[in-house]
Amino acid sequence: MDIFAALRQRWSCRNYKSLDIEEEKLMKILEAGGWAPSVMNLQPWRFYVIKNPALKQQLKDHCEVLAQTIFAKSGWKWVSKYSFEFLVQAPVLIAVAADPKDTGADQFIKEQGTGYAYSCCAAIQNIMLASHALGVDTLWFSLYDTPAAKEILGIPPHLDLVSIVVAGYSADPEKHLPRKPIADLTVIKE
Ligand SMILES: Cc1cc2nc3c(=O)[nH]c(=O)nc-3n(C[C@H](O)[C@H](O)[C@H](O)COP(=O)(O)O)c2cc1C
Repeated sequence: MDIFAALRQRWSCRNYKSLDIEEEKLMKILEAGGWAPSVMNLQPWRFYVIKNPALKQQLKDHCEVLAQTIFAKSGWKWVSKYSFEFLVQAPVLIAVAADPKDTGADQFIKEQGTGYAYSCCAAIQNIMLASHALGVDTLWFSLYDTPAAKEILGIPPHLDLVSIVVAGYSADPEKHLPRKPIADLTVIKE
C-alpha cells in the first residue's frame, strides 16, 4: 500500500470481531514499530503483546471504574457512556513501554527528558500504519491509570507505559474523521 493511502485511510477502530491476528502479520507489525526513529537510536520501546483474556478483562474492569471517577470530576457524559468492550474483543493489545533513562541529551535540559516517550510515539504510529497496510485495524488507547495498568499487565516498575495499541479486525465499517485545513495550522517564516 502506498504510504499516502495508508496515512489517509488509517482510522481508529472501537469495535472488533473475535478473530485472531495471524502470527506472521503480528511479527511484521512489531518489526515496523522497531523501524521508527528514536533518540540516539536507543530504540527504548519494549512491546508487551497481551493476548491473555484474563489480563484484558482486568484492564477493562479497571478502565470502567476509572471512567466513572473521571465522569464524577468532569461531568463529561461521553466518558460515562464510553464502552471499553474493545479491550476484551480485540485479539491483541500492544502495550508500549520504555525506561525514561533511555532518553537522549534532552535529559540534561531542564524539564525535558521526554525523548524516550516521543520515540515510543513514533513506534506506535509505525505500528498503526503497518497494521492498516496489512488490513489490521487499530486504536491508540490511553484512558487508563498508568500505575494500575502497569500492575495489571505485569510491566516492570522502572518502565513507563507510554500507550497501548489495540489491534484486530473491525466489526464496523471504516469511519474517517475530517481534518482541519493544514494551512490553518501552519506557520511559514521566510
Ligand atoms: C495520544 C493519543 C491518545 C489516544 N487515546 C485514545 C483513547 O484512550 N481512547 C480512544 O478511543 N481514542 C484515543 N485516541 C484516538 C483518537 O481519538 C483518534 O486518533 C482521533 O479522534 C482521530 O480519529 P482517527 O484516528 O479515526 O483519524 C488517542 C489518540 C492519540 C494520538
